[in-house]
Amino acid sequence: MGGFKVDRCVCQKISFDEIKDYARVHQITDIKQLQAKEICSNKCHMCAPYVELVLETGEVSFEPGAYIGRKQSS
Ligand code: FES
Repeated sequence: MGGFKVDRCVCQKISFDEIKDYARVHQITDIKQLQAKEICSNKCHMCAPYVELVLETGEVSFEPGAYIGRKQSS
């Protein structure tokens, strides 16, 4: 498999690791709260499905397209 992993919001220059920490500290469970605070996912939105996975699973590095077929499983 290729080496490219999705592990950050490019627009806001913040890694998913940092987003996960921020969400934990601020008890954020919904991406809309991160967008409202302009932490991530509020510009091109390319990272949004991955950030939702960060919040759901705690993972911080994904294969491109990893969210396909994994969303809304609950
Ligand atoms: S990469 Fe996150 S908003 Fe563009």
